[in-house]
Amino acid sequence: MSVVWVLNGPNLGRLGSREPDVYGSVDYAGLVTVCQETGKELGFDVEVRQTDDEAELVGWLHAAADDAIPVVLNPAAFTHYSYAVRDACAQLRAPLIEVHISNPATRESFRHNSVIAGVATGTIAGFGINSYRLALAALARL
Ligand code: DQA
Repeated sequence: MSVVWVLNGPNLGRLGSREPDVYGSVDYAGLVTVCQETGKELGFDVEVRQTDDEAELVGWLHAAADDAIPVVLNPAAFTHYSYAVRDACAQLRAPLIEVHISNPATRESFRHNSVIAGVATGTIAGFGINSYRLALAALARL
């Protein structure tokens, strides 16, 4: 069974209580379950991780690059300014799907630019937790 990593950046561990009007009521544990169940349906062994630490996220991306593991990444706020995360993503050797729960294009102007999008295979945003389901389904089609 092929391995897929679902990596989540800062504040996503607070899903459920964090701005539910924007991010919905499913908590982080629920997100993990959704990803693992979707993975099972698609024949993926899905590992889900979250960190608030940029260095830790960069380290995970290096490990994914070394082992050519496909990645679904919600970079959260790093999306908009982290060249370190972008440069780590650029080293990946398997597909990278950027996901967002909300649609950043409809929100504050600082969210309109993604420094990650240019090195991602594709981006899925605005479908709530279903963005992750769609990202895993996209990986299954590649
Ligand atoms: C987010 C959108 C980002 O702008 C924000 O900083 C997040 C979450 C999303 O999933 O909608 O933390 O990536």
